[in-house]
Amino acid sequence: MLGNPASEFAVGALKLPGRAFLAPMAGVTDLGMRRAAQRFGAALTVTEMLDADFYLGRDPAAALRAEGAGLRHHVIQIAGCRAETMAEGARRAEAAGAAMIDINMGCPAKRVTGGFAGSALMRDLDLAVSLIRAVVGAVNVPVSVKMRLGWDMHSLNAPELARRAEAEGVAMLTVHGRSRCQFYQGKADWAAIGRVRQATSLPVVANGDCTSLAEADEMLRLSGADAVMIGRGAIGRPWFVGAVARHLAGLPQAPGPDAATRLAVARGHYRTLLELMGTEHGLRHARKHLAGYAAHAPRPDAALRHRLITSENPADVESLLEILFESEEPAVAA
Ligand SMILES: Cc1cc2nc3c(=O)[nH]c(=O)nc-3n(C[C@H](O)[C@H](O)[C@H](O)COP(=O)(O)O)c2cc1C
Repeated sequence: MLGNPASEFAVGALKLPGRAFLAPMAGVTDLGMRRAAQRFGAALTVTEMLDADFYLGRDPAAALRAEGAGLRHHVIQIAGCRAETMAEGARRAEAAGAAMIDINMGCPAKRVTGGFAGSALMRDLDLAVSLIRAVVGAVNVPVSVKMRLGWDMHSLNAPELARRAEAEGVAMLTVHGRSRCQFYQGKADWAAIGRVRQATSLPVVANGDCTSLAEADEMLRLSGADAVMIGRGAIGRPWFVGAVARHLAGLPQAPGPDAATRLAVARGHYRTLLELMGTEHGLRHARKHLAGYAAHAPRPDAALRHRLITSENPADVESLLEILFESEEPAVAA
C-alpha cells in the first residue's frame, strides 16, 4: 500500500509516531487546534506561518502563533525572503522549543507573494535555495520545506526545488498538489506529487484535498509519498488526522469520538482560545472553529449555528455547544 510499510516515520533524528500530519493554516492551527489534533493521534502539527520579520520584531501575534506548550513535536513554520531574517527567525524558533523548522514556499496570498515570500520563491529558485541554506545552517533541528507544484502550469518546478533542497540538507518535503496560480481551485493533483517523489530520496508528504480515509489511501497510491498532511479536512474534527494515521498504520478503525467527546474537544478548544487570546480576540478568532464543530455536530442546525458564531457571550457559546451536541445518536465514523 505505502512506499514504506512501517507506521513510524523518521525525519532526521525525529521519530514520528505515524504518517498523518496537521497542515499549517494561518488563523486556524492555533495552539488549541494543534493540541486537539495531537491528542487524537496526529503525528505532527505545524504552527500557522510566522512572518520572520514580525517574529523577530517580537510582534505579540507572532509570539502567540509560535506557542507550542504541551506538544510532543512542535514544528514552527517561518516565511520570508531575506536570508538573515529567516536564519535569525529559525534560531529563535529553535530556542522556543521547535523540534523542526518548516519553511513556507507554498503560500499563494498576494500579500505574501508580493513580498517575494511563500510560493513566489518558486519563481526564483536561487533565492529559495539561499534561504534554505541560511536556515539549515542556523539550527540543529531538522528543516523541512512546504511547497506547491510550481508557480503556474507552465513552471511546475517542484522536482527541481526538491533536488536542490535535498542537496542543502533539508530533511523533509511537503507538496501541495496545486500550482500557486490555482490558489485552491480545481482538484489537487496527487500524481504530480509523484514527480517530486521520484526526484529525491527525502521523505515526501502529500497534501491537498484529503478528507477521507479512502482519499488518504489514494493520495499515497498516486503520489508514492510517505505521509499525508491534512488541512481543511480537519477543521471542526481535529480527530480526523489521528484516524488517518491509524488507518495508514493498518490498525483497525475505531469509531470516531462520540458526541460527548466532541463536545469536550470543542469546549476545551474554545476555552484555550479565550485564555490565550483574551475574551474579545478569542471570541472572534474562535468563530471559524465553532462553525466547523457545529458542522460535525450530531444534529447540524443552521439557526443554532448562526447563534453560536455570532454570540458575544462565552457562557452562551458553551450552552449552545451543549445543545448542538446533545444526542442519543451513536458515535460517527471519522
Ligand atoms: C485558511 C488557510 C490558511 C493557510 N495557511 C497556511 C500557512 O500558514 N502556511 C502554509 O504553508 N500553508 C497554509 N495553508 C495551506 C494548507 O497548509 C494546505 O496546503 C492547503 O489547505 C491544502 O491542503 P487541504 O486541502 O488539506 O486543506 C493554508 C490554508 C488555509 C485554508
